[in-house]
Amino acid sequence: MTGSAEEIYQATCSAPVNIAVIKYWGKRDTSLILPTNDSLSVTLDQDHLRSVTTARADPSFGDLSSYPDADAAAAHLTDRLWLNGEEELIKPDGRLRRCIDEMRKLRAAKESKDPSLASLSKWGLRICSENNFPTAAGLASSASGFAALIASLAALYELQPEVSSSQLSRIARQGSGSACRSLFGGYVAWQGGKEADGSDSLAVEVAPKSHWPDLHALICVVSDAKKGTPSTAGMQRTVQTSPLLQHRIKEVVPERMAKITEAIQKRDFDTFAAITMADSNNFHACCLDTSPPIFYMNDVSRSIVQLVEEINRASEAEGLGKKLAYTYDAGPNAVLYAPKENMPAILQTIRHYFPSADFDDTFNILGNGANASHRGAQ
Ligand code: DP6
Repeated sequence: MTGSAEEIYQATCSAPVNIAVIKYWGKRDTSLILPTNDSLSVTLDQDHLRSVTTARADPSFGDLSSYPDADAAAAHLTDRLWLNGEEELIKPDGRLRRCIDEMRKLRAAKESKDPSLASLSKWGLRICSENNFPTAAGLASSASGFAALIASLAALYELQPEVSSSQLSRIARQGSGSACRSLFGGYVAWQGGKEADGSDSLAVEVAPKSHWPDLHALICVVSDAKKGTPSTAGMQRTVQTSPLLQHRIKEVVPERMAKITEAIQKRDFDTFAAITMADSNNFHACCLDTSPPIFYMNDVSRSIVQLVEEINRASEAEGLGKKLAYTYDAGPNAVLYAPKENMPAILQTIRHYFPSADFDDTFNILGNGANASHRGAQ
């Protein structure tokens, strides 16, 4: 956008949570956030779990060209960010800093090609982000949070369509690995990549949400307390100490990625469910194989596993397929995937066995990726 000095440059974007069916657990490069294995997720509907971020650039927030270097500008708080109403420090070598800097570089490149553009890349930023669900409770808040940050800066800086969503996912990945997958809707793979600079470590769409709209999710909030071992620290402890993780990386995940991608393409729920549950269990087994072990699931989580296995066993005994699948991230909360028609009965059974539990309602999981709800001069 071109503009005069009195124009307001602001963009608001929301981004959904994604829940992996092939889990990302482990980094081969902790600074660039490069994973030890590929992963695959389903993007949830934004009506239920989302982050909404507004980013604004203004010369009154500070002009970066007036400081000798980026550190001096940072020391003068040219960029500031609030998460759920509380200011978060943007640490000099932290993930937020890296994401903002990368996005600013893309804007600066655009401005150097078109000098008529406003110098947004030189102005300080004010960023405000809100989640409509508990932060860091194993409900993938960092995924939607960083995806919304990147989407709002991309909208503010008018980077798309020249910069693709996969290119943006490379930057979101450096905020939080799983965030790269929230830039797309539907079924999304994070290709871990081989390059040391991370240039081939990005998210791609496996299938759009319209491909298999019949798949729904039920989130069973077993606990919304903050998790004991954050994912970032937990996964590196697993990398350092778990022999099982090496087997997972080399033998287990590559075959599962291929099989679940095919199952999604064929809308084959039985295979999708079998792989989803097996991968959740393999991931939690790696956590248990970590020294000291990490426990994310609790007794209620394990009872839900048993109930789901029992429902599927009874259905298969009648010659019918699996009714549903469970998966657990780095926390005790269950995400259940099932064809839409199965959900009313599932919800009733779960409520019967867990009468006091607080479950979100059944909803269509197939959301769009991050999107802009507003941008531009006002
Ligand atoms: C269990 O993406 O939160 O949810 O990259 O260190 O920020 P960092 O980790 P994060 O880890 C997510 C782990 C997981 C599995 C997954 O989403 O694939």
